[in-house]
Amino acid sequence: MLDSALYMIYSPFEILDHRRPILVFGRDGQVGRALQVCLKDLKLPAVFLGRVDCDLACETSIIDVLNCYKPEVIINAAAYTAVDEAEGEYDLAFAINSKAPELMARYIANVAHGIFIHYSTDYVFADTKQDVYSEVDPAGPFEYLNVYGQSKLAGERAIQEVFNLANDFGRVSYANKFARYFILRTSWVYGDGSNFIRTILRLAGERNQLKVVADQVGAPTLAQWLAEVGVRIAGSKVESGIYHAVPDGQISWHGLATFVIETAASFAQDIRVKPENILPIPAIDYPVLARRPYNSRLSNAKLKKALLEMAFINQYPHWKEQVEAYVKMHVSNPSKASKKLI
Ligand SMILES: NC(=O)c1ccc[n+]([C@@H]2O[C@H](COP(=O)([O-])OP(=O)(O)OC[C@H]3O[C@@H](n4cnc5c(N)ncnc54)[C@H](OP(=O)(O)O)[C@@H]3O)[C@@H](O)[C@H]2O)c1
Repeated sequence: MLDSALYMIYSPFEILDHRRPILVFGRDGQVGRALQVCLKDLKLPAVFLGRVDCDLACETSIIDVLNCYKPEVIINAAAYTAVDEAEGEYDLAFAINSKAPELMARYIANVAHGIFIHYSTDYVFADTKQDVYSEVDPAGPFEYLNVYGQSKLAGERAIQEVFNLANDFGRVSYANKFARYFILRTSWVYGDGSNFIRTILRLAGERNQLKVVADQVGAPTLAQWLAEVGVRIAGSKVESGIYHAVPDGQISWHGLATFVIETAASFAQDIRVKPENILPIPAIDYPVLARRPYNSRLSNAKLKKALLEMAFINQYPHWKEQVEAYVKMHVSNPSKASKKLI
């Protein structure tokens, strides 16, 4: 876990001081809720927008709020995240996951020292590697990604294109070269909202046996940690670019379900299913509309280096410690689960 006490010693959020309020999209999502907690704790002024305040499928709605708040820092935690539904809603998924971040990027690229933080996904990779993916590994191939993955990759590319143009002296004003963007790719997010861990805890109280996919591997990532990573990066002098934002370690869905149930049982949660009755199955036996990658393993080396060197942290989390804390909080007080884990 990141050490909150360090805020008192250093001031890693210097860059964010004396700016206009940070504009956060995706207020009601898992990461958006976590950002509310994080920014409030840090006493950083922020405006949080939900779907009712700004429909990201509507370009004029986005342009209106940008012109209204005139932000210097945008954090985009909103996305079309219904992976299976996206297969039938191509245009909507692309509007929200590609066009909307492009408009945000265009705005920030024209703000001197502007900062754009955008969350993306492991689904931009289509099993081209068996090892971990680094930020320089090519994403795609596009046609092998599901629609959600395609729309998120299109969003990444649109943001990079905007900032690459903005940093070209020939095309825009001098000040814009100081605007920065960060694309934080993450995986298997859990926080205050619907997620795999909550589903497993619910099913474990209802059933004697569970079948869970065992041949897809990734890193469960706590929304609270992702929120804090975003804010720390924004408040530091870290260079623009893509960063893989996942904790240390990897696990399959089956391994994660087993760990969750063993952990919940150790905290005396009433669990019907025994760990040995969580049966491993191949993904092919759990048919879903959108094909998921088998390999969701992202190398976090670049982020770790940046955080340790530039953003004043002295430790980096392992997924196990985050999941353990989350399950403990969930079991002892489900309504507050994930609200205060940092
Ligand atoms: N969840 C994961 O496992 C996962 C994995 C990898 C990457 N990510 C990425 O991490 C980021 C945060 O994910 P999350 O888990 O926090 O997602 P989430 O809980 O599904 O939240 C997404 C938010 O986006 C909002 N949204 C969707 N369509 C919108 C629209 N047309 N206008 C305005 N807002 C809209 C939703 O609003 P409503 O609340 O009104 O529906 C929701 O609050 C996303 O970029 C996602 O792609 C997530």
